Order: sequence, then C-alpha cells, then structure tokens
Amino acid sequence: MRHIEILDTTLRDGEQTPGVRFSLSHKIEIAKQLDRLGVDCIEAGFPASSNGDFDAVAAISREVGCAVQALARATKNDIDCAAEALKEAKHPIIHVFIATSDLHLEYKLKMTREEALDHISESVAYAKSRCERVQFSPEDATRSDREFLAKAVKRAVDAGADIINIPDTVGYTVPSEYADLVRYLLDNVEGLSDKVLCVHCHNDLGLAVANSLCAVAAGATRIECTVNGLGERAGNASLEEIVMALRVRRDITGADTAINTKEILRTSRMVSSLSGVDIALNKPVVGSNAFSHESGIHQHGIMENRRTYEIMDPEEIGLDKSTLVLGKLSGRHAYSERIEKLGYSLDGAGIDATFNRFKEIASKKVAVTDSDIRAIVNEYLDGLEGKYWIETFQIQSGNHMKAMALVSLKDRVTDRVFTESAPGEGPIDAAFNTINRIANAESVVLESYDLKAVTEGADALGEVKVKITSNNGSFTGRGVSTDVIKASIKAYVNAINKWTRAKG
Ligand code: KIV
Ligand code: ZN
Repeated sequence: MRHIEILDTTLRDGEQTPGVRFSLSHKIEIAKQLDRLGVDCIEAGFPASSNGDFDAVAAISREVGCAVQALARATKNDIDCAAEALKEAKHPIIHVFIATSDLHLEYKLKMTREEALDHISESVAYAKSRCERVQFSPEDATRSDREFLAKAVKRAVDAGADIINIPDTVGYTVPSEYADLVRYLLDNVEGLSDKVLCVHCHNDLGLAVANSLCAVAAGATRIECTVNGLGERAGNASLEEIVMALRVRRDITGADTAINTKEILRTSRMVSSLSGVDIALNKPVVGSNAFSHESGIHQHGIMENRRTYEIMDPEEIGLDKSTLVLGKLSGRHAYSERIEKLGYSLDGAGIDATFNRFKEIASKKVAVTDSDIRAIVNEYLDGLEGKYWIETFQIQSGNHMKAMALVSLKDRVTDRVFTESAPGEGPIDAAFNTINRIANAESVVLESYDLKAVTEGADALGEVKVKITSNNGSFTGRGVSTDVIKASIKAYVNAINKWTRAKG
C-alpha cells in the first residue's frame, strides 16, 4: 500500500474563504484537532502577510507534534519571516511559491520567464539555508507552458527543494490532463522522482478531489487539502472526501493515508462551527444526510444489511449515534468530558467560564445538546480576543415609534466603557447603528443577517450570523442566545471585533 501524505491547509488557504477569519485561539484549537486527526503536516499561515499569521504559525509550532509549514513568496524577507515563525516547530517546512504562467508573470509579477527562474533558484536555496525542509510551488502550474514549468521545477529541485507542489490555482484542470501533467513532470525533470511530489487543487469546476486522486494514480505522494473544502472561491479539495475515497477504494488506488478517520466528523464540525461556514446537508462523508435513508426500499435494505446502501461505516468517520444530552443537573466533570469529546482542549479558566454559561443555558432549556455546547465554546473563544465587550444594552421599539437602542461597550484594551444611542428601522438595526457609532464603523456595510435555531424546540438557542464588508475585506460574526436581540448584538460585536483587528 502506498502511503499518501496529507497536508492540511485549512488555516492558510482555507482561511482565504471570504468572510472567514480565525482568531488565534480558534487556530490553536483547530491545529490540535488536526494533529489528533493524524495529518502529516499543517500549513499554519503566511507569516509575512500579517502579525496575526506570524503569531499563529509560532504558536501552532509550539503546540503540535506533526510537521508545520509556513508560506512565503520568493523573497528574502518572506523567507526570513517564515523561518522565524517556525523556530519552535518540531518538523518545520518553508513553502516558497512564485507564479509560472505567462498570465501571472506578465500581469501580476511583471517579470520575464528568465527572471522568474532566477528568483526560484535564489529563493529556494536561501530557504534551504534557513530551514531543514523546503517546499516549492509554481503557482498557476496548470495554466503554465509545460516546458517552462519543467524548467521551473528543475531549478527548484537543483536548489535543494525537498517537496515540489503542483497547484491548480484556479481549479482549471480536469483529471486526465492533471494526471498527464504529473507524469510529464516525472518523466522530464531529472531528480524529481527522488522528491516528494505534492498536489494542490481548487474546486472551481467541482473537480478538486477527482484531480487530486488522479494525480496520486499518476505518481504524486502528497495531497494538500482543507477540512470541509474551505478556501478561496469554490474552495480547495476536501480532506474528508480525499481520505475516505482513498480508504474505501484502496483496492483500486493501492494507496492510503495515516488519518485516524474516527476523528473526521469531530474535526469537520469544529471547523464548521469556528469558521461559521455551514456544511451542506448533502456534503459527501460529513453532511448530515450522508448516512440518512429516505426511500422505503433503501430503509428496508439497510435494515437487512447496511452495506446494501452504505459504502462506509458511519462509525468509521466517528459518527456516534448515542447523542447523550446534558441538562441542568449535569456537573462540571460530565461537562468537561463532553468538551474534550467534541475535540476542544480548553484550560481550567476556559472550562469554568463556559461551564457557567452552560448552567445559565441549562436553566432555560430542557436539554443542552452538542451543537449548543459547541456554540457556547465558540462564543467563549471569540470573546477571548475581541476589543469590544458588551456591557449593557436597552432597546425600545413598537409599532408607532422609531426603534431606539442604547448600548454600552467596554474597550478591553483601555478598560473604558463607551455608551451611545442611535435610532434604526427596527430594534436590531438600531442596535447595529449604535455599535457602529461606538466603534467608528459607520463605513461598514451589513451584507447579510441570518438567524437560525441551533437545535429544535421552543427553548432552542438562536444563532445569528452576520457578514459585514468594508474596504479592508469582509468579516463574519456569530452570536448565540435564547434571546434573538442579544444574539444579534453579540454577532455584530464579534464581526466588528474582527474588522477592528484587521484594521490594525
Ligand atoms: O492555489 C495556489 O496556487 C496556492 C499556492 C500558494 C500554493 O495556494
Ligand atoms: Zn491554493
């Protein structure tokens, strides 16, 4: 059986999903869970791009046992930054990239092919002098001239790259063409077969997983992917689909990964919850319909023998049907065990803070489910790093009056409390306008507002998700409460905190 390495880039390429910004504590929780999942390497960020990315790569390097990779453009400054951030990693890898397609060279880099080749030689050699392992990626490889691509890869191999990654940056290729490209490079670049050959596919045509698998059949030995397929535009190849396709059909692929598949569902739900990106019901492997059977014929078959209509065991991906619920009589011990079971590793202070919130909610709800607990923990993690904290709010609204809000937010950096009031078209609009006044965020536009119940029943927690945009990007926020106005204010403050952090 060939061993295929899995590099997870949820925290780097996955975070490029519009609206998704993981805080440092989110990233650490996800990285620890990815380590438990058994990925070979975590691409933890792009240290030269922001202080936040630098800090995340440094913190994750300290926390996990698997390899940690950091992205760098082909410049000395980026490489130095990546090397510094990876200083404490047990198995550090610097990932140097530069585009090789004529389109990117002419319009983005304004560079000739010869200049790009020189950058590759210099930057890979320099990265190799700063780090024991180096990965090189010719960005937009699938739209690059093949002969030139082979020259670029050869330069990287000669300069000492250990891993060569072939990105389908814009999700343009198709399985037969991508497999052919992998074979072409293996046949035409001397020394490449001694290196790790990696693939990185985007999903613009819905082919990212198929392209990755065909590349493996053609000789690639490492796949870059993200949990739930997060990523730019239509996302990256989805980790859970790749891993399960290789596992279920290892009779055909002759290949498998070291992933502990029983951790898949937990990882997927954690990433969905912390990113705020819901999993489609019909998403392969992890969607909530993936093991549901509607038709009578199918149900009958399943009752006789599950394999009639199921190609994998739900237990194999960690689906635990015995969903025990906690309630107001549950103690701290049962609660902290559940937190661990959901994949989180909160410290004592985190358990105390969230346990108090759990008790508050349990006193209003009959049963507190895993989804409720994830919402409580996420809210706690979100709150750890936000600049503003909600002190108090009051709303007045009615059918014959303009809604008015009075909100006090504490600036946790200076400890000052700011109070403002503002009118609005309704209570939520008034509250958001007031928060904008406090945070000087009048230029921010509310793009979307979604309210849904976390679980079923009249006593369900309401979860509000908002998306705001401004000239420095888009930011999502999430808030949970049994009171929808409170949930809305929490969600908005959460998004404003991310916007404030990105402004620097
Ligand atoms: O899609 C891409 O080309 C990338 C590179 C940085 C590897 O993400
Ligand atoms: Zn990418």
